[in-house]
Amino acid sequence: MSVPSLDVIYYVACSLDGFIAKIDGGVEWLDAYQGQAEDYGYGEFYSACDALIMGSHTYEVSLKFGEWPSKDKPSWVFTSRDLTLIDPSITLTSGDPSAVVEEMQSKGIKRAWMMGGGKLAGSFLEAGLLTEFRVYVIPLVLGEGIPLLSGVSREHTLKLTKTESYPSGIVEMRYTR
Ligand SMILES: NC(=O)c1ccc[n+]([C@@H]2O[C@H](COP(=O)([O-])OP(=O)(O)OC[C@H]3O[C@@H](n4cnc5c(N)ncnc54)[C@H](OP(=O)(O)O)[C@@H]3O)[C@@H](O)[C@H]2O)c1
Repeated sequence: MSVPSLDVIYYVACSLDGFIAKIDGGVEWLDAYQGQAEDYGYGEFYSACDALIMGSHTYEVSLKFGEWPSKDKPSWVFTSRDLTLIDPSITLTSGDPSAVVEEMQSKGIKRAWMMGGGKLAGSFLEAGLLTEFRVYVIPLVLGEGIPLLSGVSREHTLKLTKTESYPSGIVEMRYTR
């Protein structure tokens, strides 16, 4: 397994039962936790990332919010389809994750936010390209939904590097490989 020098961090919120979205892709259950005084380290994390990586389903959900929120950083969207490009900072790619990581490294990118979803994060994990998890567990059971990771066919042992609980009931857990 290759050891990348690009840090790819899966910073994500999930329900207690391991879902990142409802079956229909809805994430409105996260609204109650956003826009409050506590930003769960998001501002610092976002500033420290050089680039964003996401799967096409996550990109399509982002498109519904109108203007692209991350014009200041290059984004790679993994898709086999000819999706609408809403900002020049976005690159659509059908490449292999390893090849795209190499391309990003060649551009001097050192740290990337794996935005998700579970399918793309799962394929990065399987390829040995996911270096850290920052999972924010929301005190909510969804019952069904889109999983935190999918397409994972083997065990991956991780090291717990941090836990923090917040007054809102959210628990942050960080793991590295
Ligand atoms: N709670 C949170 O913090 C959070 C964070 C992120 C996302 N989400 C939610 O998660 C949902 C989407 O997650 P998802 O797991 O369904 O999809 P996803 O990972 O966003 O996208 C998967 C799609 O990406 C394309 N793709 C291209 N190359 C790929 C590769 N190497 N590996 C995997 N996929 C590849 C494929 O579609 P095509 O080739 O057909 O385009 C695939 O079906 C959305 O509802 C979003 O709102 C929640």
